[in-house]
Amino acid sequence: MLPSSSALPQASQGAESASGQLAFNNACRTCHMVREGDNRLGPNLHKIVGRKAGSLPDYGFSSAMKEAGFVWDEEKLDRFIANPDEVVPGNSMKPYGGLSSSDDRKKIIAYLAQSR
Ligand code: HEC
Repeated sequence: MLPSSSALPQASQGAESASGQLAFNNACRTCHMVREGDNRLGPNLHKIVGRKAGSLPDYGFSSAMKEAGFVWDEEKLDRFIANPDEVVPGNSMKPYGGLSSSDDRKKIIAYLAQSR
């Protein structure tokens, strides 16, 4: 029996978050883990939405990040990922060129927001 073409994936359910994870892996995972306590070159991004900027006690943030004085929300993250220096001048998230695709940014933020 030949597989019928109607057996193609019926639902793209979960595809959104899967592509968010893929985009994260491509753009961020060299330096960031989402898992709690897992700091690499960059701090872990566990529950980053709602977390105060530069607030992890066990990671050595730049003083710019420590003194940023705001809580990450979707909008801040979007601007930061597009152009870190515009949101936190003097931050040490380097080398990072910025993510110009607003589509990719949206996906990554959705992925981070649901990784709680
Ligand atoms: C080259 C390594 C590198 C890459 C790639 C990178 N980051 Fe970072 N990131 C860092 C470093 C280092 C810091 C700490 C910056 C500081 O202290 O000024 C940081 C800080 C952050 C913070 C602030 C965390 C906090 O606790 O306040 C967020 C949010 C963040 N990165 C998100 C991302 C996202 C999302 C991506 C992918 C789109 C990404 N980063 C890509 C290295 C990187």
